[in-house]
Amino acid sequence: MVAPPSSIFVNQPNIGLCSYVVGKIENKANNLILIGFMGTGKTTVGKRVAKSLKLSFVDTDALIVAQEGKSIQSIFEDNGEAAFRALETGALQQACSGEHTIISTGGGIVTQETNLPLLAEGGHVIWLKSSAEVIYERVRRNQERPLIKTENPLETIRQLLAAREELYAKCADLTITTDDLSLEETIYGVTETARFWKINRPSGD
Ligand code: S3P
Repeated sequence: MVAPPSSIFVNQPNIGLCSYVVGKIENKANNLILIGFMGTGKTTVGKRVAKSLKLSFVDTDALIVAQEGKSIQSIFEDNGEAAFRALETGALQQACSGEHTIISTGGGIVTQETNLPLLAEGGHVIWLKSSAEVIYERVRRNQERPLIKTENPLETIRQLLAAREELYAKCADLTITTDDLSLEETIYGVTETARFWKINRPSGD
């Protein structure tokens, strides 16, 4: 069932498609950070939200690619995952140093302990949550994701997701379950959250 946009906002924990972690919204920088597994739409949604609200947009993967001059796939192949994770932490630090920025993060950002305080202080964190099956359908034709280039990508997604869900939940101020939402509905949900959060800050413009 597709929920109408008005039902995306349920400002109570664990109700409907959206849940807030009450009491986690203090002392944050004026950014909005999208977290979630690969293929959950973080970049597409982030770009659209930033455009409609005339805010800056930073994607940590894109920042790494631009700064290193090579693809994520090549960084994994040439330098290994640990080197990629170190670059990712640097990119997150850079992204969070701005204000009024929509930040899209790589799906593994929550796996590094050092990133957790950066996320907590860097902005309002939204987890775009999807099931393994929906993620698989979205990423199966894309060859640019080294971690799921396995014999059984669906099973790999299931395992990675199982290992990460608790971490996403721990970092998220707001969770939007996107399985039954269209892209436009997800964008609406994130845009309205950003609008609310932006006008709700003393330094908001
Ligand atoms: C990764 C997700 C990717 C990218 C890298 C590792 C992960 O980003 O950072 O391939 O560990 O889940 P997206 O979530 O944007 O695909």
